Amino acid sequence: MIATWAARMIEGDVAHPLVPVVDAVLAAFADGAARPHEVARLGAFADALARSAAVTELDPELRALSHAGFLRGAMVVLATSLREAPRADVAVLLARELLDAIDVDLGVRLLHATLALPEVDGTRMTRGGIFAQANLLLGEQLRDRGDAAGALRHFEAVLAHDIDHARALRGWQQATATLERRGLLGTRPGRGLSLLDGLDELESAQAFGLARYELSRPLGRGRHAVVYQAYDRHVGRDVAIKRLLDSDGTRTASRVMQARFFDEARTLARVRSPYVVALLDVQPRHRLIALELCKGGSLRLGMRRGLVDAADLPRIAAQLRRALDAVHAAGAVHRDVKPANILLRTAFRGAPVALADFGVAQGIGPAGVGPQAGTLRYLAPELRGGATRATAASDRFGAGVVLLELLLYPTPLPDAFDRIDDDLDVTSHVPDDAPASVRDLLRSLLARDPDARRW
Ligand SMILES: Nc1ncnc2c1ncn2[C@@H]1O[C@H](COP(=O)(O)OP(=O)(O)O)[C@@H](O)[C@H]1O
Ligand SMILES: [Mg+2]
Repeated sequence: MIATWAARMIEGDVAHPLVPVVDAVLAAFADGAARPHEVARLGAFADALARSAAVTELDPELRALSHAGFLRGAMVVLATSLREAPRADVAVLLARELLDAIDVDLGVRLLHATLALPEVDGTRMTRGGIFAQANLLLGEQLRDRGDAAGALRHFEAVLAHDIDHARALRGWQQATATLERRGLLGTRPGRGLSLLDGLDELESAQAFGLARYELSRPLGRGRHAVVYQAYDRHVGRDVAIKRLLDSDGTRTASRVMQARFFDEARTLARVRSPYVVALLDVQPRHRLIALELCKGGSLRLGMRRGLVDAADLPRIAAQLRRALDAVHAAGAVHRDVKPANILLRTAFRGAPVALADFGVAQGIGPAGVGPQAGTLRYLAPELRGGATRATAASDRFGAGVVLLELLLYPTPLPDAFDRIDDDLDVTSHVPDDAPASVRDLLRSLLARDPDARRW
């Protein structure tokens, strides 16, 4: 794709979005900078860039060049290479040097241009990816310049996908503390967060100032909603607030999304189980619902943190079974059973699970349930073609995939789960050496025939 950009760029019909900023860097620094043919080390650096060397190789060399007094020359080499073959990771490298007090404005411009690249947006979910790196650099820059509100946005962008990212959390806490000192958060820290996802101050006063909730740190984010920890003043306890995001950055979320969001509340209200997250409050005017706070975060995070492992499988299977039985008994289908939607009630080993995120759940009405909506990896084979309707059995398949993932962790699930294939038979991926009861359960839940899936 980059080669295509370069070709089209040379033909002169379109400029890569990084080019205007890169040109500004060249205009600012090319004059008087050492050139690759004059300094062997700069020449080697240019060669490394020309053969698309990894940033891990380029970075130490850049530091060495800077140390040897050739920073200006190295930046021109970087900019020239970016002009020919734009690379987001190299752009971040150059931006970091620019921010290092050389030309902060150009550094900020370059990071903004980098964040706007579609391939960078695609790294949102990647730990330590370009998206996170660029946002951290921008957040720290804005914080140092005294723009705490601006900084907060960038730290939150990282935290929304990686809730315990230490550097982002530190930046977020500093920025909130600054806003609080300046009285911009009102009386409580965290109120400023409501400014971030589209509430203006007036609305935020109505939504949170008078009313019950004091928003605190972000806990996670999904497709259409962002979840914050909050303090419920009426009852005096911490809760989770799930707030519908504006659909396209505009102020009004689409009516369909709103309707679906509150369907989630209706479904939750019908289901009673100690293993389903409890609904505490619904405020349609503010597009939020309050849920019981699950302090352990999601099962996905729990596996990463070592809070749960294969030894917990029988217990978690039993709890998931009770959760799904309750959902199905209430006439609903969850449709999106996956580790990110299964929460741990406490942050300790042995914490019970709570099934959450009924955002795509549906009642089994006369019209049945709509076709697939969930995440491919956890989707039952009969739903992969898109023709069949979700059922209690397809939820059980999802639970089977979650449990297999827990059993295999940290080995990732086999690729077969990511392929669209309604012939999929994945029971062969259940390891033979698993305890017999676990093996039988997983083979049953993962059976191709929906009727054969039993707990
Ligand atoms: N009650 C809760 N307690 C703690 N964390 C929560 C709670 N609800 C959601 N989260 C966090 O927020 C993330 C997104 O919430 P979810 O309901 O799955 O939203 P979406 O419908 O947008 O996927 C979850 O993966 C989890 O990390
Ligand atoms: Mg979710």
